[in-house]
Amino acid sequence: PCYQTFFLLIRLHLTDSGPTYHFMNYQFPKDFIWGSATAAIQIEGAASEAGKGPSMWDDYCQQHPERIFQQANPAIACDHYHRMPEDVALIQQMAHNGYRFSLSWPRLLPQGTGALNSKGVAFYDRLIDRLLAAGIAPNVTLYHWDLPLALAQQGGWGNRQTVDHFVAYAEHCFRLYGDRVPHWATINEPAWSILNGYVTALHPPCVHSYKQAIQAAHHMICAHALTIQKYHQGDHNGQIGIVLNMSTIYPATQSSQDRAAAQLADGALNRWFIDPVLLGRYPEDIWQYYADWDLLPEHSGEELGWFTEDSIDFIGVNYYYPHYASGDATTTQFHLNTTGENDPQQDCVFSIKGAFKFVKNPQGRYTDWDWEIYPEGLLQLLQRAESYRPGIPVYVTENGIGLQDQLDLSPSLPVQQHVDDQERIDFVAEHLKVIHQALAEGVNVKGYYMWSLMDNFSWINGYKKRYGFLYIDRDNNLQRYRKKSSYWYQDVIENNGF
Ligand code: NOJ
Repeated sequence: PCYQTFFLLIRLHLTDSGPTYHFMNYQFPKDFIWGSATAAIQIEGAASEAGKGPSMWDDYCQQHPERIFQQANPAIACDHYHRMPEDVALIQQMAHNGYRFSLSWPRLLPQGTGALNSKGVAFYDRLIDRLLAAGIAPNVTLYHWDLPLALAQQGGWGNRQTVDHFVAYAEHCFRLYGDRVPHWATINEPAWSILNGYVTALHPPCVHSYKQAIQAAHHMICAHALTIQKYHQGDHNGQIGIVLNMSTIYPATQSSQDRAAAQLADGALNRWFIDPVLLGRYPEDIWQYYADWDLLPEHSGEELGWFTEDSIDFIGVNYYYPHYASGDATTTQFHLNTTGENDPQQDCVFSIKGAFKFVKNPQGRYTDWDWEIYPEGLLQLLQRAESYRPGIPVYVTENGIGLQDQLDLSPSLPVQQHVDDQERIDFVAEHLKVIHQALAEGVNVKGYYMWSLMDNFSWINGYKKRYGFLYIDRDNNLQRYRKKSSYWYQDVIENNGF
């Protein structure tokens, strides 16, 4: 009779022997890529070992140690070069099905051109094979800011020849690893790498010249465009795109002056890079603006022909925080936080002839490094990618929070609590929620890579700011410890949602 069935059901429920059902609010598509990201120079170390040539960052930290927090440098970094098998095992433990990393150009081609370094080639062979054997799809960036020093000394991205050298390097990589890499990105955050190198001058080559910035940016975009062509001509199985930061930029107030400033800032920092990549041409208004200020890059018709609509297979977006532009052109010195990791205290000069400046949002929620926490910015950015090209696959290739995490090995604490980074969990969860919303609205978001897999060399911030799922104990032989967030994220991955 039915009351017996009823009691049986209650008993089954109370004995708790059946499977546990999670009721999730945020369920993700079944093929969603869950990963984390790194960059070669920020984690590898072995900077002058096994045939690797110096990069402009190795040299910069040697020449100007005072410009880096605690005179840090990337010579050892996280020693990932030697500990790679241990690190891949940890990625696997954390249940990732994707991992984004970059190839070191000077490890593969010590002079930037010429003969390949066989030990460098073998290192990435081993890394890729291990990842694949562990069921982790590699997402490989070709250029994450570590230009070979030999090329930097010949003018770096300011030199037109760097375009050809980059394309030749990329073709080596496609030939070596193209059979196993499903996702390639040409360049990481071209806008910020140019801005930091040529405008704020906080990164090498430390130049203060808007004219040179625009020339170097043009060469980077050319290198990107030509590389995409070569990849597609090569008939590879994978997909290729680019990683853009695409910062959301709002007017500081609703005044017409600030609105115009925000539009200009968006044009200079976002559209100047997005439009050639997604629409196959530079934005006309900014082209005209640069023409008026005699800032246009030298270019040829052939180069502009490399920019084609629909050339990339996916877009990678990095998102950390939004910007607020003010048109108060009387001040040309202002506070600018860039993803180049300058501290809030370090003001830097940035102006296109005093046309706009970035200011803080008085209502904003800020991290210790003055980076505003604003997940809605990511939503708008994803919607923007979709509006450029409906249906384009979008990967969030970086998103994360820098904290001063503390390691506490007290025996009374469970292992999950050794590094209690609840703030990181909250940050990531808030951003995953807006990704979920974007998916519900029809944006084709295919994956999320948290920055970063491990605490790393954070440019001029050295090792102070920690971003990782893995805590790197710099006082004790670079020992790795999983942070609380890594257990939480593992759970999210295993449930494909939360
Ligand atoms: C963006 C860069 O791609 C990465 O190298 C950097 O460490 C993070 N932002 C955090 O600043």
